Amino acid sequence: MSNTLKIGLAGLGTVGTAALKRLGSMQMKFAEKAGLAIEVRAISARSKTRDRGIDLSGYRWYDNPVDLAKSDDIDVFVELIGGDSGPAEEAVRAAIQSGKHVVTANKALIAKHGNELARMAEANNVALNFEAAVAGGIPVIKAVRESMTANAISRVYGILNGTCNYILTRMEEEGLSFDACLKDAQRLGYAEADPTFDVEGYDTAHKLTILTSLAFGTEIESEAILVEGITSITPADIAAARDLGFRIKLLGVAKKTSTGIEQRVHPTMVPRESSIAQISGVTNAVVIDGDAIGSVTLAGPGAGGDATASAVIADIVDLARGLEVKPLGRPADALVPFKQSEIYAHEGGYYIRLRVNDMHGVFASIATRMAEQEISLESIVQHKKRSKASEAEATPAAGKSQDIILITYETTEMRINKAIEAIKTDGHIIAPPQVIRIARV
Ligand code: HSE
Repeated sequence: MSNTLKIGLAGLGTVGTAALKRLGSMQMKFAEKAGLAIEVRAISARSKTRDRGIDLSGYRWYDNPVDLAKSDDIDVFVELIGGDSGPAEEAVRAAIQSGKHVVTANKALIAKHGNELARMAEANNVALNFEAAVAGGIPVIKAVRESMTANAISRVYGILNGTCNYILTRMEEEGLSFDACLKDAQRLGYAEADPTFDVEGYDTAHKLTILTSLAFGTEIESEAILVEGITSITPADIAAARDLGFRIKLLGVAKKTSTGIEQRVHPTMVPRESSIAQISGVTNAVVIDGDAIGSVTLAGPGAGGDATASAVIADIVDLARGLEVKPLGRPADALVPFKQSEIYAHEGGYYIRLRVNDMHGVFASIATRMAEQEISLESIVQHKKRSKASEAEATPAAGKSQDIILITYETTEMRINKAIEAIKTDGHIIAPPQVIRIARV
């Protein structure tokens, strides 16, 4: 390698453009820091003419990112195209096969093909760095993969999607509906035009599967994961959570249990005073529990051009420094197969909101169904007067409806499911039950 690390960058969206600007303006500084100059030689993007506020004339242009990935003129291929297949996947494979290091922000690609790509990278003696793929500007990959290597990690959990956290924060602070907050998130550019990926939890799931692998030394497993998004959360749930001393957050949780590893993404009630409950708006946070460190929380910007470019560039500078770590923290052949802990065995407290007909005996029959499953109730509240929020959700047919809200002590998912099935057969509930897991973090 010469005294310059030559970069080919594919994808000039928000992150790619920010990375290119920063790499250009800080070139000398990087040379001082890394001992090797870093120079972007060539770029590729969908449109050559789109105005990005940056002069591209000094870079060799490639229409096809695969050609850029194979170019002899680069040492590192930076993939900021996105997507778990198509040009991003083809170009990353081509780069590795032609002996180029790869830096990527692509969580979907790593979640789906990470095991195989890690193997390929090792076989070709190149690095595959993806700090920007999880929690944007927060250096969580390095923290888990490298800085916490002395620990037996028992749990990693966090708020990994800024769009969802923004929506839940606004719902709580302003009593707004999910739809109203989503529209604002889209207007402000936080949420995509098609927000499904974010609000249904898939974006969080991708990031979590990567963290699971790094924390527990397992192969990435993107199928064996429970994923529930935030679209069913109503102002009534947010208000009830507040009254009970909780906040609702979309958490990704990876946890070791006696039977395997739980990998789950779902709305979660967390105590208002917990550190994770303090994370508001688009901010992300990851908590890592290790036997030596206890509990460490990393919080910061999980998205945005500059913040994500910061992580991309740190990965490039690591390569200029000669730092190469196995992509998944250990040789790919030493990764252990992922063993899923069954969700029905999950233990925890539960919030259950049941919209029922306002009739005598309903309250008692629900309590009986819970008792049959040996579920202890911490509280059971009947909202005599509907709050403004639940008023707004009430259907015309629900004129005489009431919400019954239960908080259970620790029990299992299986018992909760059985109790709810029994309650359904009793015929009192007039809307699908809302069940939210509680984490007393
Ligand atoms: N769409 C993600 C979020 C950012 O809302 O946090 C990129 O992963």
